[in-house]
Amino acid sequence: MKSYYDCEPTLSDNDVLDVCKQGYLRLEAVVPEEINERVRAFLMENTSHEPTEILYEDWFVEGVIKNPQAAGAVRSLLGVNFGLPLLMSNHRVEYPTEAQAWHRDGNSKFTHELRNLQVFYLPQDCTMEMGPTEIIPGTHLLYSANDHLKHLDRVRGSEYMAGPAGSIFITVYSIWHRRSTSTRAQKPGVRNNLKYNYFRTAPPQRDWCIDPDFNFGNAPYLPERDSGYYRDIWLAASHAAEMFLWLCGKHAQFRTEGGQTWPLNGSAARFTDAPYGVPPGL
Ligand SMILES: [Fe+2]
Repeated sequence: MKSYYDCEPTLSDNDVLDVCKQGYLRLEAVVPEEINERVRAFLMENTSHEPTEILYEDWFVEGVIKNPQAAGAVRSLLGVNFGLPLLMSNHRVEYPTEAQAWHRDGNSKFTHELRNLQVFYLPQDCTMEMGPTEIIPGTHLLYSANDHLKHLDRVRGSEYMAGPAGSIFITVYSIWHRRSTSTRAQKPGVRNNLKYNYFRTAPPQRDWCIDPDFNFGNAPYLPERDSGYYRDIWLAASHAAEMFLWLCGKHAQFRTEGGQTWPLNGSAARFTDAPYGVPPGL
């Protein structure tokens, strides 16, 4: 049965823009240890790769699915009355094992319209040796067929979703990812990594934690040059700006003139508050 949830948003304008640029958000150790412990015990008994029964446990829904920090971020990105997960997957892996092939999940759409989120929750510590999920920031808006992605190996600028128990990673569904290698593990073990989706039901609008000083003309749409970002940062800035404006309910105003104009702001830094080409009325 579908169910919906609403809560206070927790993300600021810059936080939302950062998700548009990076395609993910890291929330470390946000689930209390007593819940993590209960989840671990549940997963010892239920070793299926689809332990959807856990969604019928009130303590799990309250502690994980409606976790205030995670749900607050989801509320910020998907709007009021967002849909709760219907399916639970467990990327349960016996390690050591080789890395998975790079891929994006089935039915990915590479679009500025953020209509769902893919979330990973670690009920146990996940170290680098245990083969954490690895993602490539910025690729959520870069189309590639899995036929091509599987030829990639080590990618400069990738990020690992290693972290302490109780960590939640919120991603845009289409981001390129894989399970990283765990061949360096000293002894065998089992890694649990729960994965589930949330869904948008409301039209997008700028109803997260609004910063009154946020300047649409001069906001940091451009990814940092030195971060090892996989993509062409100039095109990525334009994609991030389009997604951000869509989330603000302002997509009709989105347009870019190319060159040194908005959303690139380098040429404007010394002389004006905003570059040339800022869409009228923003
Ligand atoms: Fe996947």
